[in-house]
Amino acid sequence: VILPPLTRHLGLDELQAAAAAVLPVGSAEFLETGARGELTVRANVAAWSSWWLRPRVLVDVAEVSTASTVLDLPVRVPILVAPMSLQRVAHPDGESGVARAVAAREGLMIVSMGTSTPIEELAAILGRRWWMQLYLLSDRDLTASIARRAASLGAGALVLTVDAPRVGTQSRPRDGFRYPDGVSDVLVDPTAWTIGSDRRLTWDEVHWLQDQVDIPVILKGILHPDDAARAADDGVRAIVVSNHGGRVLDGTLPTALALPAVTEAVGGRLEVYVDGGIRRGADVLRALALGARAVLLGRPVLWGLALGGSEGAGEVLDLLAEELDTDAALCGVADVAQVPHDLVERI
Ligand SMILES: Cc1cc2nc3c(=O)[nH]c(=O)nc-3n(C[C@H](O)[C@H](O)[C@H](O)COP(=O)(O)O)c2cc1C
Repeated sequence: VILPPLTRHLGLDELQAAAAAVLPVGSAEFLETGARGELTVRANVAAWSSWWLRPRVLVDVAEVSTASTVLDLPVRVPILVAPMSLQRVAHPDGESGVARAVAAREGLMIVSMGTSTPIEELAAILGRRWWMQLYLLSDRDLTASIARRAASLGAGALVLTVDAPRVGTQSRPRDGFRYPDGVSDVLVDPTAWTIGSDRRLTWDEVHWLQDQVDIPVILKGILHPDDAARAADDGVRAIVVSNHGGRVLDGTLPTALALPAVTEAVGGRLEVYVDGGIRRGADVLRALALGARAVLLGRPVLWGLALGGSEGAGEVLDLLAEELDTDAALCGVADVAQVPHDLVERI
């Protein structure tokens, strides 16, 4: 066991300060920062606990099944790793370390376009257990070539991030932040990022991207039910309800509050995943009760990585899975793929 022993009781939030303490200042800020006043960063976490649990009793929960599928891929637990750039900033194990932890647990990793490890190396570890996150770059040829390269390496889907047509203003100035020696973006030259993602990203570009590959294009960063419904109308197979962990636009609705209207609007026509502020197993249950099929875990994976490399990241995933298993049993839920909507009520 690598993580501080109290984490088992107090939860993953305990790791935030511990991780910050082992990282150089600039690296810790890179990991934690949110947009502007960080209202949404805080609200994302808090909003999950505004949904209270209403357990069923006298249900046989001797065995709890946490198994599920995402776009037909079986996962042991419906907790996926969110795309996060530059993981070698957190620890030399970087993306490879996270990939090993995910593969060993039969999970799924969404690899960021800002990866600091070549995707060939990650694909060799993950097999089919990964999806490729993309921004639409102004350089369409480069975007298309990365998309095709990922597909040919076995990525099961592309995850197009649609909530950042501009770079937001982040709270903690990163002047003075230098990548650790030998760490940089490997897919997209850092200078290409200054051109940034394309500000004209619209539904046309979604279709353009879908035309480049045979694997599904998922949209990440949806909050409005009408956008979700449009995605379903346009044949999109999955979306991620996300506000980018509060890193792009401050003041957005926390995802725990945006989720119900989205799942209602799509009515099962596509798979809905959610991220932002998931810190406890009960948060996963809440998300599933509100109609999500799986959650994405962001910062806590990097806290675990910072503290204990691949093993630390793995322990974070295990801890959340154990909490989910226990809390599901205590809620009278024997199968997390079938969490009833009336398990939660908001006060
Ligand atoms: C250090 C860091 C880097 C991130 N990089 C990306 C990225 O490259 N692409 C993307 O779509 N989202 C990125 N995100 C957002 C995450 O995918 C996810 O939406 C968010 O972190 C989830 O919230 P949580 O951290 O509260 O779990 C990043 C988040 C962090 C913390």
